[in-house]
Amino acid sequence: MGLRQAGYQYSLFSILAKCKNSAFTIAYMKACVSKPIDGLKGAARVPGDKSISHRALMLGSIAAGDTRISGLLAGEDVLCTAKALTAMGAVITSPDIKNGPWHIRGLGEKLLCQPKASLYLGNSGTSARLLMGFVSGYPVSAVFTGDESLSRRPMGRVIKPLAQMGARFETSVADRLPLRVIGSSTLRSINYQLPVASAQVKSAILLAGLHAKGMTFVVEPQPTRDHTERMMGFMGVKVHSKVQKNESAVVTIEGGQQLVGRNIVIPADPSSAAFLAVAALITEDSDIVIPSVLVNPRRTGLYETLQEMGGDITFENRRDSCGEPVADIHVRSSKLRGVRVPSDRVPSMIDEFPILSIAAALAEGKTVMTGLEELRVKESDRLSAIANGLEAAGIRVDVRGDGLVVYGSSVTAPKGGCTVRTHLDHRIAMSFLVLGLATQEPVTVDGAETISTSFPNFTTLMNSLGAQMMPQ
Ligand code: S3P
Repeated sequence: MGLRQAGYQYSLFSILAKCKNSAFTIAYMKACVSKPIDGLKGAARVPGDKSISHRALMLGSIAAGDTRISGLLAGEDVLCTAKALTAMGAVITSPDIKNGPWHIRGLGEKLLCQPKASLYLGNSGTSARLLMGFVSGYPVSAVFTGDESLSRRPMGRVIKPLAQMGARFETSVADRLPLRVIGSSTLRSINYQLPVASAQVKSAILLAGLHAKGMTFVVEPQPTRDHTERMMGFMGVKVHSKVQKNESAVVTIEGGQQLVGRNIVIPADPSSAAFLAVAALITEDSDIVIPSVLVNPRRTGLYETLQEMGGDITFENRRDSCGEPVADIHVRSSKLRGVRVPSDRVPSMIDEFPILSIAAALAEGKTVMTGLEELRVKESDRLSAIANGLEAAGIRVDVRGDGLVVYGSSVTAPKGGCTVRTHLDHRIAMSFLVLGLATQEPVTVDGAETISTSFPNFTTLMNSLGAQMMPQ
């Protein structure tokens, strides 16, 4: 049955054009306020995992045969990846952009085609870095651009190994976007030691390694999220991964293998569920369930930390979904106490320090976090954004080099009554809206439209559980 007959009547471009001015994409006014509440109750499914959504689109696009994806996150970051892939010849369609399913007719042996215009990747570091590796193995040249935040983020960490493999790069400002990637059909394999623990850099190398001659080895100083390895395995490509005695991890891939299209079910994003979980813990009368969340141990560092802080969090109904572990997360209000977060746990909760800082502000005693230098180069300088936001809300905090100490109180609620700057950073925006549920006075965040990059229905879903988050 042809795609039209099957009901996939919209190409991605027409879907994006249709949605441009809809309430779905323009979900947020610039400022948003969050008011103190008694608690959250009920069950709510958060959108699909962002990291896995990017990878499903990329791998499905070059697989042999068809891939069907359900649960894809239709946030702006992932749509940037879909649009870039479409511009290079991928055939990606869906009857309903918000709810899916998505269908990809994989290119298989066919080559990517030359994009006619530059690829705009919005706010999305994962799109930019993974696609740099993805494009490197094909004889095409593509210009990557992004928003103000993405254009400030370092790309040298990806350029260096990919250039060693034989891709070429033209950059205007040091190692920042905009830049041009010139791929090659004769990539060399490498043995590369990552200077920082980064799943984005590892994945870019593995995506290029799939097309390189021979064995590519990536050594990571600490194990990072392994969704690329797991999904490649699920789609028939052999990737070998081993954590060594010294805690470093070696990942190996042999070039020339072909991915095979599959049905992929994407679990809910634990990084998005984190906002609901902390909101339930810090409000007095809460009891919520977040179903079907990814609980891959390389992503659950925050939950482990919250449990150590005394949080009543349980993973129920554990199961497997397309090679990834999944569970329903049950959270009840809890009296939290400050802890010291071990620095070797940082990679498994790299995106969760903004929301952990909110839990820490409501916990008794101080919470000490170290090894956070990577937070300086996320969507914003998160160390500064967290510290400034907490101080504005009346919470004492110290930034010491690459560390952060939050002095919490479970007895007196923080004052609040402030406006927090989000710096085009979705996780800063959502974290401080969660803080406003438990302060004395409401908390306002500016630039709340950035939330659409990863969690388009965030305020609607929070309000359905009992929050009061309103556009200003
Ligand atoms: C991601 C890896 C992490 C994370 C990002 C998503 C991924 O980045 O912060 O939100 O999907 O591979 P780094 O690799 O830069 O740590």
